[in-house]
Amino acid sequence: MREQIVHLLKSRSDFLSGEEISREFNISRAGIWKNIQDLRQKGYDIEAVPHKGYRLVSIPDLLLSNEVLCGLHTKYVGKKIYYFDKLDTTMKEAFRLGMEGEKEGTIVIAEQQSHGKGRLGRIWESPKGKGIYMSLLLCPQLPLTEVPLMTLMSAVAICDAVRTLYDVVAEIKWPNDLLINGKKISGILTELNAESDRVKFLVIGVGINVNTTKSHLPEKATSLKLEIGKKIDRIKLLQIILEKFEFWYEQCLADGFDGVLQQWKTWSCTLGREIVVSDGHRQTKGKAMDLDSYGRLIIKQEDGNRVAVMTGDVTLLKK
Ligand code: BTN
Repeated sequence: MREQIVHLLKSRSDFLSGEEISREFNISRAGIWKNIQDLRQKGYDIEAVPHKGYRLVSIPDLLLSNEVLCGLHTKYVGKKIYYFDKLDTTMKEAFRLGMEGEKEGTIVIAEQQSHGKGRLGRIWESPKGKGIYMSLLLCPQLPLTEVPLMTLMSAVAICDAVRTLYDVVAEIKWPNDLLINGKKISGILTELNAESDRVKFLVIGVGINVNTTKSHLPEKATSLKLEIGKKIDRIKLLQIILEKFEFWYEQCLADGFDGVLQQWKTWSCTLGREIVVSDGHRQTKGKAMDLDSYGRLIIKQEDGNRVAVMTGDVTLLKK
């Protein structure tokens, strides 16, 4: 009911009379007032003027499911949303839903995470209401060897969304960090459930520093707000990310990963650079030459040897 009242209020730039709301939803004046109070409690700014009615002044800066769904142009990605004010990590909740057989495209969002997980055992800082912390459930029929390609696909989708919405040069650092001006704004963590050597489901965790301030960011990280210089509409950004996810995912399912690999290479800030890749045990130094068809990074070492690296953390050396 509350969501429907918001929807009706949004359709008017002027006041909506209590009588109209009452007629539309067949509720009493007292019932309307109760719903309006509840909405105000949630952060909706609704003006009430005697003899005129109600007017929506602004919506809250929250990734509420009804707000994300309103104007989301996808078939299934993001069409079912589990929204939380706070979670330890959205990964755990999405994985649990995957085990229960939740449908593909479902997302879990939290305004804040107390134990946000990063790659290679790191922590993902997740301050309240500042970023996008989301886990997406996908069920591609893939062999395990192709899972890293799904992570590259995710990086392409997010990069595409950021480039579409803002006038910034977002680039991808292998395998899936998104950088602006050399500083990280987004990271992706993929976890999977598999049977024999096939994927049952994937949970793709996306963390984006959106309106995050410097004091909440790790060193070498930045936020979209800091780079663009103004507050970012998180709802719009999330909607476009979901749309791009669906676009690239469907392309991979229909035509394979060539298109994604091509796009990844175009937006890469890794290829052609002198780098060091560290996987926690070993360091590989050399020039990043290419990606192979499994998404591995091909590095030409100083002695001319070429090696393919599967996982790790890239440090870009000075140009
Ligand atoms: C990285 O280390 O770059 C990956 C960071 C992934 C963070 C996201 S935030 C949403 C989801 N929940 C988590 O706990 N981690 C991922």
